[in-house]
Amino acid sequence: MGKLDGRVAFITGAARGQGRSHAVRLASEGADIIAVDLLEQIESVPYPLATPEDLAQTVKEVEALGRGIVAVKADVRERSQLKAALDQGLERFGRLDFVLANAGICPWKDLTLAGGFVDGTDVDLIGVLNTVAVSLPHLKAGASIVLTGSTAGLMKGTTEVLGNTGGVGYAWAKRTIFQYTETFALQLAPHSVRLNAVHPTNTNTHLLQNQEIYKAFRPDLENPTREDAEIAFPALQAMPIPYIEPSDVSDLVLFLVSDDSKYITGQNFRVDAGGMLKTDAAPGL
Ligand SMILES: NC(=O)c1ccc[n+]([C@@H]2O[C@H](COP(=O)([O-])OP(=O)(O)OC[C@H]3O[C@@H](n4cnc5c(N)ncnc54)[C@H](O)[C@@H]3O)[C@@H](O)[C@H]2O)c1
Repeated sequence: MGKLDGRVAFITGAARGQGRSHAVRLASEGADIIAVDLLEQIESVPYPLATPEDLAQTVKEVEALGRGIVAVKADVRERSQLKAALDQGLERFGRLDFVLANAGICPWKDLTLAGGFVDGTDVDLIGVLNTVAVSLPHLKAGASIVLTGSTAGLMKGTTEVLGNTGGVGYAWAKRTIFQYTETFALQLAPHSVRLNAVHPTNTNTHLLQNQEIYKAFRPDLENPTREDAEIAFPALQAMPIPYIEPSDVSDLVLFLVSDDSKYITGQNFRVDAGGMLKTDAAPGL
């Protein structure tokens, strides 16, 4: 018996990283999965996004657990694509219980408004709103929605001084998720549908492990390596670690979708090894 037997989860950005980890964790507790990912590059993103092979690997890992998975190429920026993907999953599984709006990009190096800021906010905010919007008609009492923010959005100064519009767009989108969660959870509560957000610190995925992020952490070096960056990564946490693993976030996500958290809603949870305790929160948070 798993904690999620007979339930179905819709997960965006599920081809790799945290999304794949969540898919496998929920499947290991008995859930079937509807997985979407872009499977294309966005020009302003300075690291490769997921490939069809990545999504195939998620399918393989979920099926190895004996669970069903419908995996579809879809862009969270396009509500019609998300709806079509979800409809495919609903056709096979017949219900929807959990929604994980996890897909995200960090267009860190992009200095243009039309690239970095627009792409960052389109994927990291509009993509989240779209994911929730297409899911709502199918959610019943007991359903749980979990959004992925970032501590980068919660820290004071990150929408002002990051030095590039891509980074600022990312932080602003993630910060807005905090406020959206509190505001919208109150509207959903009378329907017994829950909405929470998780805000990870540095997480060991492609979004962190790339040259532009290494440069951001080591501006003193022209071509910093991963080893150079790992000396600086612990600055974001209070506990002495460079980053958390995707499975550390999946632990919290599983709790937040399961009945173990049945009266927890409207909350913003940090998985940050104490990092936010060292810094001021953004105004209004
Ligand atoms: N890695 C970190 O340090 C970190 C820290 C805090 C928050 N986050 C957030 O965690 C979430 C998961 O990211 P990750 O760390 O697993 O990185 P990742 O890059 O490995 O995974 C993100 C996934 O989202 C997909 N994606 C991107 N744009 C999409 C779109 N328009 N439509 C559909 N799918 C799209 C990518 O292809 C990729 O598979 C993101 O929201 C990210 O902002 C990451």
